Formats: sequence, C-alpha cells, structure tokens
Amino acid sequence: TGRMVVAVDGPSGSGKSSVCRAAATTLGAAYLDTGAMYRAATWYCLEQEVDLDDHKAVAVAVEELPLNISTNPDHQVITVGESDVTAAIRVALISEKVSQVATNPEARALLIAAQRAIIDREGFIVAEGRDITTVVAPDAQVRVLLTASAEARLRRRGAQLGGTQDDEALRRQVLDRDTKDSAASNFTVAADGVAVLDSSELSFQQTVDSLISRVQLAQ
Ligand code: C5P
Repeated sequence: TGRMVVAVDGPSGSGKSSVCRAAATTLGAAYLDTGAMYRAATWYCLEQEVDLDDHKAVAVAVEELPLNISTNPDHQVITVGESDVTAAIRVALISEKVSQVATNPEARALLIAAQRAIIDREGFIVAEGRDITTVVAPDAQVRVLLTASAEARLRRRGAQLGGTQDDEALRRQVLDRDTKDSAASNFTVAADGVAVLDSSELSFQQTVDSLISRVQLAQ
C-alpha cells in the first residue's frame, strides 16, 4: 500500500522535534508532533479555566477541543478554534502543566485516537512523542527511541532557550517533566523491536542522517 510510518519516541530535550522535522522534509514525508497536541489541549483547558485536577472536566474539554495541527514539516501551525497557538503552547506555564493533561487517561485516549487518524490519513509520516512506538503506532515500519544523556539534553534545552535560564531551574524543568511524564508512558527503555538511537555524541545532522537511513533501509 506504500504506507510508511516512522515512529519516534524520546524524552524532552532529546532533539526529537528538530530531528524528525528535518528527516521528514528530506524524505518528503508528513510530520506529526504529538507533544504539540498535548500542549494545545493544555492551553485550551487553561483558556477555558478548567481545573486540571478535575479529571472529568479535563476529559470533556479535550473531547470538544477544536484542534487543527498542520503536518507540513516546514510549516508548523497549530490552531485551537480561531486562535493560532503555535507560539503560546511553548511557554513555560504550558510545559509545567502539560503532564497533568497527559496523565489523564480519558484525555490520552482521545488524543491517541486523533493521532491515529492523522497517521492513517497521511500514510507516509514521521510521528514523534512518548508513546508512538508502543501505543499509537506499534505497527510502524520504523520504530526508534531517540535518547541522549541528561547532560546533552540539558545543554541543548539551555541553548534552545537562549542560555538565559539558570542551570538549576533548567535541570528542574527538563528532568522533573521526565519524571512526571514517565507515569503516563515509559519512553526511557526501548520496547521490543524498537531501535535505540543515542544522539549524545552525534551532531544534529548525523542524527538526522541516521534516522533517514533507517527509513531508507525499510523502504
Ligand atoms: O514533546 P513535548 O515536550 O512538546 O511534549 C509535551 C508533553 O506532552 C510531554 O511532557 C508529555 O507530558 C506529553 N506527551 C505525551 N505523549 C506523547 C507526546 C507528548 O504524554 N506522545
């Protein structure tokens, strides 16, 4: 059928998003940032003043979430209703709150169903997140766990934020979120049949090339 799904999981700061976007561009594939969907859901809950501790209310909000996410790797635009939230979902408040939505089982089930629909619609797609290789698309032709040492991840996230953050705050932000997220899905150990790509000692382009060659081998 020509279907080619590339599933990539990894912790925050592993460089997943930039690596997957670049690989998708080179391959001519679509791209899905599932983390952006959890972020958009969180943005919507906050905008609707939903109490994030209220599981039922969060689930209801996610069910009616008017989300639109572009799958063009070169033009990422995420809208919720009429609002372009592309930048708003990246602020620290969302990063801090997103695990609360991501650990809500009903909200997760809804977002996972939406992700599967997008993957099915596209056919040739690089999809990245925390549970793509294991839950969303375990039947993907290419399944990769992109890892990097804590040091490498902290260094990259620091550079991404312009080096303005103090080290301790950054460490808390990156590593605490991993701890919170690991409650919802285990993305630190590769599941059966999932290849580990450790980028700690690789340049950005080497990491992208490694992912691309795995796809080409599977094609
Ligand atoms: O990848 P990113 O850091 O933008 O993801 C934001 C959050 O979304 C993660 O911290 C995690 O809580 C959640 N997430 C998830 N499952 C995914 C992708 C993201 O739980 N597949």
